[in-house]
Amino acid sequence: MFLSSDDRVLMPDVKSAQARPRAPRVLVADDQPDVIEALRLLLKGEGYQLEPASSPAGVLAALDSHEFDVVLMDLNYARDTTSGQEGMDLLTRLQSIDAALPVVVMTAWGSVDVAVEAMRRGARDFIQKPWENARLLAIIRTQAELSQALRRGQRLEAENWLLRSEAQGKLVAESPAMQGVVQVIARVGPSDANVLVMGENGTGKTLVAQALHGVSPRAARPMVTVNAGGVSEGVFESELFGHVRGAFTDAKVDRVGRFELAHEGTLFLDEIANVPLSQQAKLLRVLETGEFERLGSSKTRRVDVRIISATNSDIADEVTAGRFRQDLLFRLNTIEIRIPPLRERREDIPLLAQHFLRQHAQRYRKRLNGFESSAVQILLEHGWPGNVRELDHAIERAVLMAPGETVKASDFGLRAPKEGAGRVEDMSLEEVECFLIKKAITRYDGNVSQAAKALGLSRSALYRRLQRYGL
Ligand SMILES: Nc1ncnc2c1ncn2[C@@H]1O[C@H](COP(=O)(O)OP(=O)(O)OP(=O)(O)O)[C@@H](O)[C@H]1O
Ligand SMILES: [Mg+2]
Repeated sequence: MFLSSDDRVLMPDVKSAQARPRAPRVLVADDQPDVIEALRLLLKGEGYQLEPASSPAGVLAALDSHEFDVVLMDLNYARDTTSGQEGMDLLTRLQSIDAALPVVVMTAWGSVDVAVEAMRRGARDFIQKPWENARLLAIIRTQAELSQALRRGQRLEAENWLLRSEAQGKLVAESPAMQGVVQVIARVGPSDANVLVMGENGTGKTLVAQALHGVSPRAARPMVTVNAGGVSEGVFESELFGHVRGAFTDAKVDRVGRFELAHEGTLFLDEIANVPLSQQAKLLRVLETGEFERLGSSKTRRVDVRIISATNSDIADEVTAGRFRQDLLFRLNTIEIRIPPLRERREDIPLLAQHFLRQHAQRYRKRLNGFESSAVQILLEHGWPGNVRELDHAIERAVLMAPGETVKASDFGLRAPKEGAGRVEDMSLEEVECFLIKKAITRYDGNVSQAAKALGLSRSALYRRLQRYGL
């Protein structure tokens, strides 16, 4: 459901779903071709995919290029045909590469001590040659199921963690300025098109991304977020693509990256303009081909992911300045959504205020049923440089402060700017600064860029001051 009966946009619940089952893959290692052939016939008949390897080196190469559910391996290879030492060494290697990968060893009939040693080194089970088909199949089936459940478990755990941290909410959008946004969500949300969401801080970019995902057929899978701002390049790459144990000093265990977690779902790349140039080529490749490698691994993986990205900077400027690849932008902005700042859709202010009042009153268990008209008037007059988020916080404060059942103008920390109040001579430096900033913001009708220009400040410097003075 997208539009609710009261015409506002509702967010569907984000539910987690399981990945589609696929044929389990078994890596079979033996240096005798007839053994491989016999196992191929047996396993194929039971719906397994078999990949052969004839040496320990062959096993390692195969593991580098594919994911397997089970390894079935002989312990003896050409170099040393009886002691099983080559096989034991390989077993130890496999354990250190992926401890979750089940290995079943094949031993010669009667060599139980070898089998015991193999189990001690981490083999999950063993089978004696010549084998009994039914027993071999039962072992492989059990191990394949365990391994798939384990992998699924790892993924679900990560997904649940992400879901818990994902805020869910309702998009209030009744103003004429927001109608375009709502229409685009309804039209392209259900497609696989990549969408770039643009807007100032706090305008609702994240919420719109959630809405796009929520109305798509991918809604049953999670929307996974990556924030490109504020992390170092190395960390960012491993966030996106994951890494294998040993890829760098702190990589103690394998790690699943966000692209893999978002498989069959949506990946939300927040603050996309901050992606370092060095990472942009890698991002472009996965967007073009769906292929990537975990850090430290040469195994190519494939994902099916829809990309929604967001930025609060003018990304075209970033392209002109050579800080953002044009070809990457073209991949990301198949559809662009510009969310207008709150000062350009004042009609939404009372509705949003009511929406946040309900939320916070419930959260703080306060009985508050609305606003006095003077309170609404103050909200309508304010410039809202921090947009919807600032409004949200202002209402939260008012809910906490309000002594009565309705919110009064005096419950807000905001005050209508009083022109010319007080004499400059009597003010502190900070008071003067605060006064001048308020004046500039009012003069430019809340437009921070213009106010910043008039004050001779950068936008971010002005934002910092607005925050400092609680404006
Ligand atoms: N149209 C809206 N209806 C209801 N709530 C909204 C709306 N827009 C924003 N919000 C709420 O305001 C807050 C800020 O929104 P959001 O985080 O989506 O903004 P943003 O543009 O992603 O901010 P940033 O630039 O910091 O990433 C959130 O709590 C969000 O739920
Ligand atoms: Mg955001």
